[in-house]
Amino acid sequence: MFRISQYMRELEKQVQGADAILPPHCQPPGPVVIWNLIRRCNLTCKHCYSISADRDFPGELSTEEVFSVIDDLKGFGVPVLILSGGEPLLRPDIFDISKRAQAMGFYTGLSTNGTLITDENIGRIAEVGYDYVGVSIDGIRDTHDHFRRRKGAFDESMNGIRLCREDGIKVGMRFTITMDNAHELPQLLELMERESVDKFYLSHLNYAGRGNRNRKDDAHHQVSRHAMKLLFDTCWNDIQAGRHREYVTGNNDADGVYLLFWIAERFPEHLDYMRARLEQWGGNSSGVNVANIDNLGNVHPDTFWWDYNLGNVRERPFSEIWQDTGDPLMAGLKARHRPVKGRCAECSHFAICGGNTRVRAWQLTGDPWQEDPACYLSDEEIGVTESRERLRVVPYSRRTIPTKVVFK
Ligand SMILES: C[S@@+](CC[C@H](N)C(=O)[O-])C[C@H]1O[C@@H](n2cnc3c(N)ncnc32)[C@H](O)[C@@H]1O
Ligand code: SF4
Repeated sequence: MFRISQYMRELEKQVQGADAILPPHCQPPGPVVIWNLIRRCNLTCKHCYSISADRDFPGELSTEEVFSVIDDLKGFGVPVLILSGGEPLLRPDIFDISKRAQAMGFYTGLSTNGTLITDENIGRIAEVGYDYVGVSIDGIRDTHDHFRRRKGAFDESMNGIRLCREDGIKVGMRFTITMDNAHELPQLLELMERESVDKFYLSHLNYAGRGNRNRKDDAHHQVSRHAMKLLFDTCWNDIQAGRHREYVTGNNDADGVYLLFWIAERFPEHLDYMRARLEQWGGNSSGVNVANIDNLGNVHPDTFWWDYNLGNVRERPFSEIWQDTGDPLMAGLKARHRPVKGRCAECSHFAICGGNTRVRAWQLTGDPWQEDPACYLSDEEIGVTESRERLRVVPYSRRTIPTKVVFK
């Protein structure tokens, strides 16, 4: 996750004359855990990594099992729980789980499609005291409904956002960008302003589940660049106007490098300091500061690695599974310098981006350390001089799916 607003605010302080002294680099006590508590969903979105649908998925963790995992997560120092799905509001015990997490002091977020937030349950949602509710909005009305494959979904989700706002709940819009909806980003940012939404999260497409099957629709590099520039400009203008909205991106750590280029053009005198700050961030943190537990209790390096299990919380505590670097993928992800290949290995900005998103490389080649095809920076921008053909995103076909992870 890349917090644009955080770095923009730091830049603003530098512009105002703050001392260019780097803050100490703090390692969080444990990873942020994104927990898919249920796989059932009332929608069947085109890009859904969990391949959710409106049916039962047997073998999901019971309330008691969830509670005992929460105890382990607390003991391990996990600071943040993002309760997700499927559609988490379809779990009858979602408020019991959420309240327990809140009471135990976790920063607790709810990741929902928003269609099931109604006048009837908004009181219970507010009562939990979620630190944040993120609602997915993937375009303006028809685009969203097409993407999320249900007519009327946009109006229901926007109603959910409004109900949260009216109850004083911090709410954000989450937008996954593809060629289907990128053209509506300006309108979505306007909508955010009109609806007084606190946060905008732009997620780049990751190649998992239906998102992998539809990877041919991934945003072209120029389209991603254009979107990022718009987000940077919007965020900076907000800060100048004294507005406190947050802008965050996910699934493409080249965004950190691209922000540095944005700064280089406008504030070259602050480039060295900002580069050092972005290097402290260090880019992709799957398997390190981000973890995933799926609906069956399997642990993964992040939400997009459901084809790769590290262990199951029914058999071994999460805290043990997470620290076990006997697993070759985890050993590579936790390495000081990830063993990436291709142009990622040669990139002069590796210290900022950390080699970007490994799932896309794996889905295309079977090798998790190959270069990330969705890096939208040119060879020239990353200091690669020898011209070579880039890894191309070939459309998904059953014949090309990697059956296992290959460590070469
Ligand atoms: C799996 S959903 C679960 C929560 C809820 N059902 C929803 O749609 O918001 C969590 C978030 O992941 C996003 N997402 C799903 N598949 C994705 C993919 N392949 N790449 C990037 N983001 C994805 C969704 O758009 C949503 O914002
Ligand atoms: S992205 Fe969310 S709303 Fe869409 S099918 Fe998946 S779980 Fe359901």
